[in-house]
Amino acid sequence: MKVLVATEKPFSAKAVEGIRHRIEEAGHTFALLEKYKSADELRAAAADADALIVRSDIVDEAIFAAAPKLKIVVRAGAGYDNIDLKAATAAGAIVENTPGQNANAVAELVIGMAIMAARNKYCGTTGFEISGKRLGLQAFGQVSRHVAAIAKGFGMDITAIDPFCPAEAIEAQGVKVATSLEELYAGNDIVSIHIPATPQTVGSIGRDLISRLPKGAVLINTARKEVINEAELAEVLEARPDIKYFADVKPGNADELSDRFGDRIFFTPKKSGAQTAEANLNAGLAAADQIVAFFRDGTDRFRVN
Ligand code: 3PG
Repeated sequence: MKVLVATEKPFSAKAVEGIRHRIEEAGHTFALLEKYKSADELRAAAADADALIVRSDIVDEAIFAAAPKLKIVVRAGAGYDNIDLKAATAAGAIVENTPGQNANAVAELVIGMAIMAARNKYCGTTGFEISGKRLGLQAFGQVSRHVAAIAKGFGMDITAIDPFCPAEAIEAQGVKVATSLEELYAGNDIVSIHIPATPQTVGSIGRDLISRLPKGAVLINTARKEVINEAELAEVLEARPDIKYFADVKPGNADELSDRFGDRIFFTPKKSGAQTAEANLNAGLAAADQIVAFFRDGTDRFRVN
């Protein structure tokens, strides 16, 4: 079977070599496409592939049409909103992700961003300490759990909300449970977003929630830019000069926000939450192992379609 690793944003060299080793050791053929510039390049490279490993790369209907042999696509990471699941199913391909493999890397970035915001982007003015502050986690998946564990070490007071996670499971981690999103936003000095982009969540965080943040609060988004109503975010940043927005997912209106609120916002130039040597290796090897297992005996534990 031919396994193509197609990553516009490359994994570390060590992760690529690890994936190659696992694929070839299992008797498959390994191929690599990195830093490609167009969907055409991806379509051409995938034409004879049986399996595909991607990151945030767009895998749409056109890819499945151009790659008729594709049997499995593994998103080496958590969010799979970049993959057209309907098209995959229609093409007879299964889609998997590698949940949790890059969670600590993203969580460390959340804490880094919290401190960077608290210290006014290290500009020398008086900031605040995150110790003793209230941290709100919107959703309580793998990244959130790591954030909570690290934040406890900083002495933060942590609250979460997650409609898909029982309250007892949240409380078992020493984290309080908010009864509504409104309460989460109103009651925390730092709110960190950890929801996926789905038809239900896209544009769901806007004026109503953001304007409830308490004085001097920071909103951190390492999830997906699509979950924010960007026009309403700009409105609230205008009306509330005390609020900050720090994100690992650059908004569509980044230039406008930078011009108007430069000292209170921050965006990474390229999504970098999962961009650590450790996360690349964990997610890359997990993806390779999942493909090997699938071709060996049909194992599809992490299937999402
Ligand atoms: C994820 O969903 O796993 C993260 O957003 C990381 O995405 P990336 O692999 O494109 O950096």
